[in-house]
Amino acid sequence: MAGPNVSQKLNLLPEVDFQQLILDKNQYIYNGDGAIIIHPDGSVTKDATLKEINSGQNKPNDYLISKDSIFNYQYNIQGFEPYIGKSFTKALKAINEVFLSEGLLNPRPYMVRAYRHNKLISWHRHVIPKGVKPSNFRLAIYYMHPNWDTNYGGQLHVGITEKDTCKIFDCFSNSVIYHDGYLGHEVKDLVLGYKGDRDILLSHWIVN
Ligand SMILES: [Fe+2]
Repeated sequence: MAGPNVSQKLNLLPEVDFQQLILDKNQYIYNGDGAIIIHPDGSVTKDATLKEINSGQNKPNDYLISKDSIFNYQYNIQGFEPYIGKSFTKALKAINEVFLSEGLLNPRPYMVRAYRHNKLISWHRHVIPKGVKPSNFRLAIYYMHPNWDTNYGGQLHVGITEKDTCKIFDCFSNSVIYHDGYLGHEVKDLVLGYKGDRDILLSHWIVN
């Protein structure tokens, strides 16, 4: 049996698109007063009742939903654009291409979240959507800070359990780390005090 799928692609976007994304990103790092939900019929609601998640303790409801998430149950990349803008949409399209190049069938995002993440995060798993086989759930973490000095650490450890890391990645700017959604991950050894922010575009995907 093949091992878990864990990988990183450097230079996800062409430089000109990445520079544009850096200019655009602050208006789309959404500080959520409610998750935006695009329903299968195209209607849109906001759910402000949801609690902040990621306790870091791997509770069953961790990462089920977050107030700054955008859910799209039409599963089309274009449907996100009014909420995340053109630059982030280009990043989603590029991630889609990465998945296709790896032979995944019909990759489709159902959740996107852009956030500023200047903190250590302890080991956790994201919640697998209902009715989806664990092996059909992928997540992608795209780093959209303009540069990264590895002396400041903040590597992403990905593994089956907290003690069983399969791979460790530097959070290089304009790189995307993607892995099977049933794996967990952790941000380790982040040294605060670096110049700028650590900005992330997280997306959840279903594949066939
Ligand atoms: Fe996470």
